[in-house]
Parts: sequence; C-alpha cells; structure tokens
Amino acid sequence: MRMLITGGAGFIGANFVHQTVRERPDVDVTVLDAMTYAGNVDSLAAVRDRITLVEGDVADVTVVDPLVEASDAVVHFAAESHNDNSLANPWPFVQTNLIGTFTLLESVRRHGVRYHHISTDEVYGDLELDDPARFTESTPYNPSSPYSSTKAGSDLLVRAWVRSFGVEATISNCSNNYGPYQHVEKFIPRQITNVLSGVRPKLYGHGLNVRDWIHVEDHNRAVWTILEKGTPGETYLIGADGEETNRRVVELILELLGQEPDAYDLVTDRPGHDLRYAIDSTRLRTELGWEPQFPDFRSGLTETIAWYRDNETWWRPQKDATEARYAAAGQ
Ligand code: NAD
Ligand code: DAU
Repeated sequence: MRMLITGGAGFIGANFVHQTVRERPDVDVTVLDAMTYAGNVDSLAAVRDRITLVEGDVADVTVVDPLVEASDAVVHFAAESHNDNSLANPWPFVQTNLIGTFTLLESVRRHGVRYHHISTDEVYGDLELDDPARFTESTPYNPSSPYSSTKAGSDLLVRAWVRSFGVEATISNCSNNYGPYQHVEKFIPRQITNVLSGVRPKLYGHGLNVRDWIHVEDHNRAVWTILEKGTPGETYLIGADGEETNRRVVELILELLGQEPDAYDLVTDRPGHDLRYAIDSTRLRTELGWEPQFPDFRSGLTETIAWYRDNETWWRPQKDATEARYAAAGQ
C-alpha cells in the first residue's frame, strides 16, 4: 500500500510514521510536511532511509495533486495545532486547516483515493467540571477558539465531500495526546522541560481545567484500526479515559522529577479557556475492537519524562523562543 501522511514531521504524525514503518513493512510511506516551526526533520531521523519526505504545503495543489494521485490512502495530520498561537494570529489556522483540507479533499475526489481525517475533541466545545456527560459521535459541534473552529470547519468539509461527492473518508476526533516528539509549546513537554531547565511549571488560571490524556501510540493504533476496519463516511472518537486536572498533571511531573508538589506558578489564564474535555470511545471499542495499550497515565508520563531527559538535543533549540513568546503574553 502507498500511503501519503501529511504533517508527518509533527508530533503525532512522526509517531505515526515510526509506528507504521516498524509494524507495517508492506506500506510505502511518503510524508508531506511544510516544516513550519512545529515540523522537525530530526523527529524522522531514525526512519529517514525508509520513507520519502517531501517539503511542501497541503494548500498547494501543484504539490498535493501528484502525491495524492500516486497514493492508495491519505492520512491527514497536518495542521496548525496550538490554541495559544491561534489566539495571537488566527490566519495560518484558516489557511492550513481549512484551505489545506479543502485542497486534499478535491485531490482525493479527483483520484478516488481513500482519506482519513485526523481531528480533535475540541470541535465539541467544553463540558462543565461536574457534568457526568462525555463527548460522543452525536455531540453537536460547538468550538470555542480559532484553532478548534477551523478544525470543526475542516471536519464539516470532509462530511460534505462524503455526502455530495462520495469521497471514501473517515474522521477521528481524539483527546489530548502526550508522548515523545511533542513540541515544547504544549502543556506536558513545557512543564517537563521547564523543570529540567530549573524553571517552575506554569499553570493557567487556577489549574482546575480538565483534559482527557491519551498516549500518542494509542491514538495512532486507533487510526490504523479505523483505516482497516472503519466504515467510510463514519466518525470515531478516540480516548482512553484519562481525565486529569492540569494541577494534578503538574504535581505528578514535579513528584516524578523529585521536586516539591507545590513548586509551580499560577499565570495569566488563556482567553476563552475550555474547562473540560472528556471522550466516550465506546463506539471504537465495541464496533472496531480497539483498546488502549497505555492505560496507566503515571507510567506513560514516567516514560515521557525519561524521553525528554534523554533527548535534550531534540527540544533545547526550540525552548528559548517558545518561552519568550509565553513571557510576552504573561504566561
Ligand atoms: P504539530 O503542530 O506537532 O504538527 C503539525 C505538523 O503539520 C508539523 O510538522 C507542521 O510542519 C505541519 N504543517 C503545518 N502546516 C502545514 C501545511 N500548510 N502544509 C504541510 N504541513 C504543515 O501537531 P500535532 O499535535 O502532531 O497534531 C497533528 C494533528 O492531530 C492535527 O490535525 C491536530 O489537530 C490533531 N490532534 C492533535 C491532538 C494533540 O493532542 N496534539 C489531539 C487531537 C487531534
Ligand atoms: O483536545 C485535543 C487538543 O489538545 C488538540 O486538538 C490540540 O492540538 C492540542 O494542542 C491540545 O489542546 P489544549 O489546548 O488542550 O493543549 P495545551 O497543551 O495547549 O494545554 C493543555 C491544558 O494545559 C490547557 O487546559 C491549557 C493548560 N496549560 C497549557 C500550557 C501550555 C497550562 O496550564 N499551562 C501551560 O503552560
């Protein structure tokens, strides 16, 4: 099978490329990545001789079309992915997440290629902290930020291309991922690398917001399950019952790194900050037989901390510029 993986030099995409090369030697992998600040060629160093890497923009039809034509399946990870950046400058989010997805959809339509769309639980908005409800495939869309609204728009484009043009597509909406190769702008790597740098972790607001954590390997295995067993036209939610408050995550990182549990700072909150995300992944589990292989957050986090400790050369070049952006926003 010839697979085009967009955003394969980013966090989840790079882990997907590694997993695919390791476990599916029959798959011929091409990565299309624009190498934005979030793309890192070093994330693919270990598999570089096993894949084709094309540097280009998913919104550029002249790049996209021949690559899609030469593929049997497209898995679309590429996106502008960080909420804080979308509040500072929404335009790249509109361009990549909406126009980029549109460009790919037109191309898979032209060439009759199977398409899988990677999306987020943030399209559903947020839940109250004490609400027993979780998101399901039928929860109405209600995104809050420029990031989540452009992801919601991209999902709706996919649904329309399925219904109007018969494109063979599936969508997955996953909760918060953690694991190796995640950019230091994101919550967990930011706090780990802060502590490793002798800096106190930074919690937005009072640290009571809840995220539903899943190991990136579990997310990517679920994507493969959907590619192999999913029904075209359908949406699957991916989550591993990993709800934690941000404060609890920081306390755990501090404990695992041998620091006092209250050695963190409370900083300016994110405008419009979603309170809580929570995924009900019953459909994926019962219909397609997926189960997480990293259900224990504490041990997944321990491994992730070890990865950042062992791979400072990977994250150090991004750290100062990232922290300078946060400092300018009082965060
Ligand atoms: P990331 O920011 O780490 O990586 C994004 C990658 O896309 C980078 O390599 C970047 O260079 C590339 N890219 C950006 N714009 C591009 C363009 N115009 N053309 C080609 N490549 C471009 O993101 P991530 O955290 O790995 O997220 C990957 C996907 O998963 C996104 O679609 C995101 O919405 C979704 N998602 C992320 C999470 C999470 O917790 N990180 C959870 C659910 C869904
Ligand atoms: O839910 C899936 C989404 O998860 C993905 O679609 C996004 O691409 C991904 O970035 C992530 O979005 P979040 O906004 O939830 O992730 P982030 O890592 O930015 O923040 C996680 C939580 O931690 C959130 O409540 C904000 C908070 N936070 C974040 C940072 C960077 C802090 O308290 N301090 C921080 O320094």
